[in-house]
Amino acid sequence: MKKTKKNITIDGPAASGKTSIGQKVASLMGYKFLDTGLMYRAIALKSLISSLEVYEEDKIVELCHRTDIAFNTNTKEILVDGENITDQLRERHVDQRVSLIAKLPNIRKVLVSQQRVIADRNDIVMVGRDIGTVVLPGAKYKFYLTASLEIRAERRYKEFTGSKTKILYDEILFEMEERDRVDKSRKDSPLKPAKDAVTVDTTEMVFETAVGTILNVIKGTIT
Ligand code: CDP
Repeated sequence: MKKTKKNITIDGPAASGKTSIGQKVASLMGYKFLDTGLMYRAIALKSLISSLEVYEEDKIVELCHRTDIAFNTNTKEILVDGENITDQLRERHVDQRVSLIAKLPNIRKVLVSQQRVIADRNDIVMVGRDIGTVVLPGAKYKFYLTASLEIRAERRYKEFTGSKTKILYDEILFEMEERDRVDKSRKDSPLKPAKDAVTVDTTEMVFETAVGTILNVIKGTIT
């Protein structure tokens, strides 16, 4: 009989620490890791390259079917049509488009079904916006990571420092707030904590404490 795989879900707003914390939890537990945001980012980038407008949903769905997304589930890297474009996916023009693409129900359908196949085959930590609510509602451990908007903008600002992108803190804060607003208010799979998710507010937590909090919940020391 097929053994059921163990899934851990982590959802939360932009730059709440899902990727770094999720990856660490996965490596400590010997689980795979998947950042589903990169899938939406890949389609957003390809739609820009193909000069598609966000209202051209059918064409973007076609694009989605034609796009080969492969993961190295041990790292946060992603291969899109055989190419490692993980860094490009984090650029600002992708940030500005991705939520508008992620609102489209038919795009979500395609990507969610791919995410479920991956979860079905692996013990995995999967991070995103709707993983606990929609993609894997039966997962045993669910987390909702959050932090104040100012702290999240500061973290993202630091990530951009040293990269090619020159951007002001205020611009990051404004764009992040707008992206969160779109993600929380969309009709299909809005960002919200699953009813059975444990919320971890990392505003005043260092990275190690956030990882430890999640591991403690999993190990059952906190219920
Ligand atoms: O890294 P950051 O938290 O800024 O964003 P991300 O996780 O890379 O996600 C980028 C965008 O993809 C989000 O703002 C959502 O619009 C969308 N997304 C989604 O709708 N559902 C997911 N499961 C993951 C991401």
